[in-house]
Amino acid sequence: MCGIVGCIGIENPVDYLIDGLKELEYRGYDSAGIAVKDNNEIKVIKAVGKLKNLEDKVKNVKFYNPEFGIGHTRWATHGKPTEINAHPHVGKFSAVVHNGIIENYQEIKKFLQKEGIDFISQTDTEVIVRLFEYFYNGDSFEAFKKTLEKLEGAYAVLLITNSDNKIFFAKKGSPLIVAKGEGIYFASSDAPLIGYANRAHYLEDEEWGYVNENEIILFRKNEKISPYFKELPASKESAKKGGFRFYMEKEIYEQSDILKETTLGRNTPNGIKFDELDRSFFDGISNIIISACGTSYHAGLVGKYLLERDAKIRTNVEVASELRYRAPLLTKDTLFIVISQSGETADTLETLKMAKKAGLKTLALCNVDNSSIVREADKTILLRAGIEKGVASTKAFATQVMTLWMLSNYLAQKNEYDAINEAIEVTKVDISLHEKIKRLSKRYLHGHGFFYIGRDIFFPLALEGALKLKEISYIHAEGYPAGEMKHGPIALADEDLYVVALLSKNILYEKTKSNIEELVARDATVLTISSEYIEMTDDFVKINKTNHPMVEFFEMMVITQLLAMEVAIRMGNDVDMPRNLAKSVTVE
Ligand code: AGP
Repeated sequence: MCGIVGCIGIENPVDYLIDGLKELEYRGYDSAGIAVKDNNEIKVIKAVGKLKNLEDKVKNVKFYNPEFGIGHTRWATHGKPTEINAHPHVGKFSAVVHNGIIENYQEIKKFLQKEGIDFISQTDTEVIVRLFEYFYNGDSFEAFKKTLEKLEGAYAVLLITNSDNKIFFAKKGSPLIVAKGEGIYFASSDAPLIGYANRAHYLEDEEWGYVNENEIILFRKNEKISPYFKELPASKESAKKGGFRFYMEKEIYEQSDILKETTLGRNTPNGIKFDELDRSFFDGISNIIISACGTSYHAGLVGKYLLERDAKIRTNVEVASELRYRAPLLTKDTLFIVISQSGETADTLETLKMAKKAGLKTLALCNVDNSSIVREADKTILLRAGIEKGVASTKAFATQVMTLWMLSNYLAQKNEYDAINEAIEVTKVDISLHEKIKRLSKRYLHGHGFFYIGRDIFFPLALEGALKLKEISYIHAEGYPAGEMKHGPIALADEDLYVVALLSKNILYEKTKSNIEELVARDATVLTISSEYIEMTDDFVKINKTNHPMVEFFEMMVITQLLAMEVAIRMGNDVDMPRNLAKSVTVE
């Protein structure tokens, strides 16, 4: 996710802008920039790569009387990570930074181009500053107001002009805070503000306005309101974790918001659209191979069920480290899809190169633009998960599955708009549920092993739930097809064998229920996750009733993530940095 800072009314705004961007580095980025009103002009400095590159450039700029400014760290969603695409985006006399996605940017861009306005970047953000200047006739406030009325999608925006000693701001869907200290400050999250400001107004959706060096002029829609201030957190570190105990916990809690970003502009009432793709890309494709590792492989397995059931395209899912040495049959009617959060996993990348060499069309589902895999693939659908700090993948997995669900709808020309939104809703963590899982976790610390079982799409979820537990609690766990337990593993059943059963009401309910009963009858300790309570289980976690299995999937996913985390916390492990693991396995 992008990061935003701004300030006015302090001695040297440049210091705050750079310090503030440093505090936002944890959000992940691929470029950064600042715009400062100095000596009656707006000076814009941008750099690709690490913040140090920007700092080095800023050191070479002479500021005479810097009055106010804005800054930005960019996580690319539209347009490659280049200096031109970096924020701030500038017009003739104004500059803007933006976090979020302008869904109707192409429509606005076409309109302005017809009006003779040129664009230089590939981004959606540039339409904001171009539209502002199109509306500007001497009154910046009115021009800003008209601009906001045209924008659709999610945004946190700061805009400055050469004609006003003001910072204009607006918030809808993406976070933005305005805070008071010696001057007035903006930031996407608390961390940059700590040490500068002492009280903050957390902007709500559709709040907007402007600040000068003394006051905050705030509107909610068209009503002028007063800011309501809260104390800022004491420490920057806890602020970066959003007050959570671990980044993994924060990332589980933010999945619902992240999935909104992943689906924004893609899941529409009229079906799925991908700006990155053209339907002709799929011409001549009669089968799909998905290649990935670890959690990304599990997401791929979910994709198989959806692509074959909905899009009627034969789909094989391969562990990349096996595929690359197996001399596979790669035919040109195959679409080769790689899934990777980091975009740097060596085995996955090598299979992608193999497919390219064999002349196959290649598509990457990836979270990091400009990564090796993105640069290698013919086409990429960015996951928009933002940086994932926890080594154990959670929100990246959620966005991978969501993207595969949208892709199967896209290829099948199926419209599951409501179900996708329902799935996003149920991904929101219910605090009482989390408390229940905290209590429950104490019972699952000392068994001789764990089985996670499920059928259909719940089998890959069982694999993923088991992986989460293994990698952060160090307790052995296996994901297994529920129907397979009787073919051997049930011999392990006794009171110390823990089984987490994913019991969907919508897919193979009776068969999975009887698998659970077979285990309970042999005294295994079973935790059932379902919308339907069953007597024959030792523990039970209830999910919402729904008629769509993917909605059940996402709700169960959160429960398995929280369970793994709470067990690991009880074991006293470092949840974010488990032993022996790396966030990206760039070696074979
Ligand atoms: C999952 O929690 C692990 N972090 C690991 O299995 C990971 O999914 C795997 O290494 C693949 O990484 P990638 O998605 O970055 O390619």
